[in-house]
Amino acid sequence: MHYLVSPSAVGNGSLRVPGDKSISHRALMFGAIAEGQTRASGFLNGADCLATLAALRSLGVNIEESADHSVVITGVGLHGMRAPAIDLDLGNSGTAMRLFCGLLAGQSFSSTLCGDESLSGRPMGRVVEPLMRMGAEIHSADGRPPLKIVGGNQLTGIDYAMPVASAQVKSAILLAGLYAHGATSVLEPAVSRDHTERMLTAMGATVYRDAERVSILPGSAMRGIDIVVPGDLSSATFPMLAALIADNSCVMLENVGVNPTRAGVITILRQMGADIRLHNERRCGDEPVADLEIRSSKLRAITLDPALVPLAIDEFPALFVAAACAEGTTEFSGLAELRVKESDRISAMADGLRVLGIRLEEQPDGIRISGGPIGSGTVQSHSDHRIAMAFAVAASRANDTVRIEDVANVNTSFPGFVDQLQSIGVDIIQGGVAGS
Ligand code: S3P
Repeated sequence: MHYLVSPSAVGNGSLRVPGDKSISHRALMFGAIAEGQTRASGFLNGADCLATLAALRSLGVNIEESADHSVVITGVGLHGMRAPAIDLDLGNSGTAMRLFCGLLAGQSFSSTLCGDESLSGRPMGRVVEPLMRMGAEIHSADGRPPLKIVGGNQLTGIDYAMPVASAQVKSAILLAGLYAHGATSVLEPAVSRDHTERMLTAMGATVYRDAERVSILPGSAMRGIDIVVPGDLSSATFPMLAALIADNSCVMLENVGVNPTRAGVITILRQMGADIRLHNERRCGDEPVADLEIRSSKLRAITLDPALVPLAIDEFPALFVAAACAEGTTEFSGLAELRVKESDRISAMADGLRVLGIRLEEQPDGIRISGGPIGSGTVQSHSDHRIAMAFAVAASRANDTVRIEDVANVNTSFPGFVDQLQSIGVDIIQGGVAGS
């Protein structure tokens, strides 16, 4: 599948992006090991979360889906999951694989986790290594999937200093900590998204933070809760960018999660001169939410503060496009993690931006991008949803039609992306069938 995007007059509109992917995965997994029912409304029906849902069903968990984007999970308790009859295929989802690795490490049964071509190339040593220190037995293909988790091992709590700021690694270790003897602590080099801590606490687990160290104690029963999943700020970033780089646009993005451990994109874009206003700031359960008003803005170059990277880790493809539309040369550094996401996002963006005539210089852990007019051509998404969406938005202000290849994976995080962009005036059509 591909997109064809033509120069567009992005105008005004009001959108509700789909539910938060990170929170949707966690609602399913944590609801599964709680006692009683967890109802998650606003759940993201994207391919990644549906892979988690299918895997949990294979583990014996009953989950009902309704047409109104809600799911009801009947929790089986900490020890109620049963051995799956098949390998658990987690598709494109790194979050699912890493969190499941932690969740399954302390079970009495064995299981195998696998995924698509992209996921099969992603580093899993970062979760396998600390979990093995806790006493788990996990076999990998040289640190990559498939992961065979051997059941029946008693885990022991550890105090682990994570080498990279990663919410996925932190969450995997905390989940394993629910099954360990003694306390388990994770020291983060920088704060990463804290949805796990918030949701586990709301369900009754004993989780506490002391400066950069997060700890969990085993033994507290978890109970099912009602969760209202906010709109995903990572998805909202794309229509936000479309409005910012347009000539005369004002877009309202309603009901978006603005958890401070996720909201780095707002800080960074504001530093670049973006007019982003938060209205009606409120809480949706344990998560901060707001309506965002975005107006076309004259963006200017910045030198990124690397401390902001973990707070905006998924937004760099879009931020690179913002830099391409800004006046001056933007310098991004501290981005080594981008090379091991769904694709190597530094090189995927650099290749496509070059095709569109943008001057840039790629570095091992960053990129310097000089703003300028966006040209036309064919760009590759490398099957990465966020690369595809970033180029779709860039193309809205190109001088001619841009073709973006291999966009089927947009459905992993943002079902309805094309319709939503069309509704604010982006001239985008989707063509071809999966694989073309
Ligand atoms: C996620 C954490 C981030 C992010 C991913 C979702 C999560 O990964 O890139 O899209 O839900 O925990 P890392 O924590 O590995 O940086």
